[in-house]
Amino acid sequence: MSENSTARESALAAAGRLAHVVLIDGKLCDTISGQGFELRNPATQESICEVAAADAADVDIAVASAKAAQPEWSRLPARERGKRLIEGARLLSAHGEELAALLALESGKALRTECRGEAANFAEVLQFFGGLAGEIKGQTIPLRSGVLTYTKREPLGVVAAVLPWNIPLMLMAIKIAPALVAGNTVVVKSAEEAPLAVLRAVEILNEALPAGVLNILSGDGPGCGAPLVAHPDIAKVTFTGSVETGKAINRSAADKLIPVTLELGGKSPMIVFEDADLDRVVAGALVAMRFTRQGQSCTAASRILVHRSRLDAFVERLTSKVSELVIGDPLDERTDIGTIISEAQLEKVRGYIEAGRKVPGAAAHECGQLPQDERLAQGLFLRPVIFTGIDNNSPVAREEIFGPVTCVMPFDTFDEAIETANDSDFGLAASVWTRDIQTAMRAVDALQAGFVQVNQAQMAELGIPYGGYKQSGLGREMTLESMIEHFTAHKAVVINFS
Ligand code: NAI
Ligand code: MG
Repeated sequence: MSENSTARESALAAAGRLAHVVLIDGKLCDTISGQGFELRNPATQESICEVAAADAADVDIAVASAKAAQPEWSRLPARERGKRLIEGARLLSAHGEELAALLALESGKALRTECRGEAANFAEVLQFFGGLAGEIKGQTIPLRSGVLTYTKREPLGVVAAVLPWNIPLMLMAIKIAPALVAGNTVVVKSAEEAPLAVLRAVEILNEALPAGVLNILSGDGPGCGAPLVAHPDIAKVTFTGSVETGKAINRSAADKLIPVTLELGGKSPMIVFEDADLDRVVAGALVAMRFTRQGQSCTAASRILVHRSRLDAFVERLTSKVSELVIGDPLDERTDIGTIISEAQLEKVRGYIEAGRKVPGAAAHECGQLPQDERLAQGLFLRPVIFTGIDNNSPVAREEIFGPVTCVMPFDTFDEAIETANDSDFGLAASVWTRDIQTAMRAVDALQAGFVQVNQAQMAELGIPYGGYKQSGLGREMTLESMIEHFTAHKAVVINFS
């Protein structure tokens, strides 16, 4: 058998240990109700374990624990908090392979192309923010003589971090690390589809943190996420997920007048101008569309606008390159592309593919081969689809599919390309492909997106503010400034010594 059976067995053993528990006050524990739901391996549809379904009663306990731990945590010198996170990063690195296998098992993302890198990124995020702890500073303001005027940055209190399933370790890291370094304590709510790797990561991190500083619950949105967000002692919510849920969270937060950070997906354009280097563009499109993550990415280049003169050559080469990717068991080292996360998501993506096929003039270029292994017969695998002949008004080109489906659309002029790119409710990311500096810079200025790249379309990187325009969200993540802006309160002080 070609699968990595050691990784699978150790991941299953870890899952068994984490079945039915949450982590509150430094300890794995049962929930009050004892309710749970079944987590299934998307590559086989076999049961992995039962996951605890925490509810409002568990939220109360977790928030109380975080609230009790917060004053002492915030009194530690900032650099001491930073050191704890850096120590956490060291512990996580030692468990990188375990976390990656657990993530591959539950999410269906390939171990080699996705999960290993994500586990490594987790530790890097902790190091990055841990190292910035001493930079949480205020200002002095030269008001007049006889007074000293300055500002200081104080923690907000208890932060709720509500996670999605697509890159759960990485997205948890960019929320909890700045929140903790800034002196807040945290209650995480994991996504129903990917609760295990994040729970294990929080368990490991707790070895470096005082009890109660970092807690994690699993459960569904209405039963656990909603009461967490609405809890009177939650001072801030940071969320990544769908627009609909983001807006619901924002409405709930508005009732308490607390700040939110929302990262809500996109329909990111990739614009390929006439002079672009096609080999580079095709290699870039593989990354831009996050094909190895089954396109389950908020920055996925799900609209590829190509100058009409290059369209056919581009589609032919992209289809051929994507077809080289191996679709298979996420835990197999040879696999490039694993599964879709869940049956519901697979159904949603298939619905868009069917709708796209019905568009007059549309062609669906299906890429690669489904795995033949009998053991994977029930797996949620899907061949990537590259659509042509679909215009920007179709729901397939307008709505976030969150699957391996992209629309390649022709354009004739610069203005037309920009107008189409900006004709979207979203504005998260965009990329521009050209050898001409003027074209590139004019496009950079004209594009309505929070993250614009030229001749590359990489994932967000630490140190670069990450977040969207329009319906793609509120606020930015991943920088020193975002930590200070989103996880601290600004206090102004005037001392009159005249
Ligand atoms: P979702 O936004 O409903 O779920 C994300 C998280 O929010 C989960 O932890 C969920 O339990 C929680 N949640 C749901 N309702 C809540 C509520 N009322 N209060 C508090 N928390 C709540 O996303 P879902 O259902 O997993 O996926 C639906 C679509 O959302 C996907 O097909 C995709 O288009 C998009 N999505 C975008 C992501 C991104 O990275 N921007 C990530 C995940 C999904
Ligand atoms: Mg939902």
